[in-house]
Amino acid sequence: MASVLVIGSGGREHALAWKLAQSPEVDKVYVAPGNGGIATEFENVPIKPTDFKALANFVEEKEINLTVVGPDAPLAEGIVDYFNEIKLRIFGPTKNAAQIEADKYFAKKLMLDGHIPTAFYVPARLDSIDVAIEAAYNFIEQFGGVVIKYPYLAAGKGVYVCKTRCEAENAIKDITDGKFGKTNIILLEELLKGEEASFLAFVDGETVVPLLPAQDHKPIYDGDKGPNTGGMGAYAPAPIVDEEMQKRIMKEIMKPMIDEMKEVEIGYKGVLYAGLMITEDGPKVLEFNCRFGDPETQPLMVLLESDLYNIMNAAVDRRLNKIDKLKFKPGYAVTVVMASQGYPGSYEKGKLITGLNEISIKQTGTPFDKYRGVNVFHAGTKLGEEGNLLTNGGRVLGVTAWDATLSGAQGIAYDNIAKINFDGVFYRTDIADKGIRRIRS
Ligand code: AMP
Ligand code: GLY
Repeated sequence: MASVLVIGSGGREHALAWKLAQSPEVDKVYVAPGNGGIATEFENVPIKPTDFKALANFVEEKEINLTVVGPDAPLAEGIVDYFNEIKLRIFGPTKNAAQIEADKYFAKKLMLDGHIPTAFYVPARLDSIDVAIEAAYNFIEQFGGVVIKYPYLAAGKGVYVCKTRCEAENAIKDITDGKFGKTNIILLEELLKGEEASFLAFVDGETVVPLLPAQDHKPIYDGDKGPNTGGMGAYAPAPIVDEEMQKRIMKEIMKPMIDEMKEVEIGYKGVLYAGLMITEDGPKVLEFNCRFGDPETQPLMVLLESDLYNIMNAAVDRRLNKIDKLKFKPGYAVTVVMASQGYPGSYEKGKLITGLNEISIKQTGTPFDKYRGVNVFHAGTKLGEEGNLLTNGGRVLGVTAWDATLSGAQGIAYDNIAKINFDGVFYRTDIADKGIRRIRS
């Protein structure tokens, strides 16, 4: 039997631990550092995701067979290189490969060299701010808007969609003021129009094995209004990416990107996540991430029927071309994030969470019952002194439901959300509406 260590503490890591634990080969799952909900099912390990030495010592001491990395920071700082050096098995890209997320300029150059469809862009140097503002204004004139990006990791916050000169000036000012860190370059991108989708695939350096296409909901309010968050809900499969579109994404984006990584002698192993805009001219890349998405991983893991532990080992051993075709549950899954009032700004912590024991689904007595289910993945939660669950973050819970239809899965998710409560709870009420409208039209 095998043991696994998952690194991270969000809903993504809870979903990965939950899925890995279902493998008949896995009998023990540790999560570092984990959260309150994870602690009730698996074993939390109080080590920070960037303390590579302590993590490696723990893995050696417990003879853990595979380490799986959730967040971007340890990947960008080289945890995979560190583990590889001392011959510990780990699933994820190396430090150089993780630059496709950590350095947007690097990612854009690879896309350009590999002829991968993406928004037209120019890098603007910040030695002359007036020139950068002028260049941004030219984009607004030409494309009806400009997207201004801080090129390095900024916890999803370094992207400004600007439609006026004033917005562009303010964005450039924020970045030059050092809001995200130092840079002497920014990216100016054409404003793409269309619907967004998240496309994630397992990669072993050569072979690309896709998961189902998903759709995230980044803005905080219904109707995609308000500031961007890490993601307020997701569903899969997203009908905007039909089979034809999946083939195009694989052929025009995923495979060429992996070939390009080989070409520059970096190579890519782990999960490759393409954030896409599905435009009238086809799929275009908004960004690449070097990790699983959150919350996308929650609906994706409940739909995946194949053994995640086997898939990850095959990726580590470069034999993804030898595994069986991935199997998925029929139907759809929806995750609705329950957040703390104030997120993505400041919010209070330590609120008592009630109703988690009441999670259930109504059986209809039809054969469809076997396709229905619900599970709550924890993100910002901790255990109180009496073992009760308290809020401990912006995104608190991911209520994840699945059913034969997308509207059915959405219904189960919201029925169960109504049973859960904490002081200041906030959630979007329209997760998956876009997909439902598309299916009905
Ligand atoms: P990113 O972190 O680069 O994915 O950007 C965050 C969000 O900004 C995306 O999910 C999009 O909603 C938006 N965005 C980024 N780049 C563009 C673009 N070129 N055109 C339109 N929207 C964009
Ligand atoms: N849900 C967006 C991300 O994980 O980057």
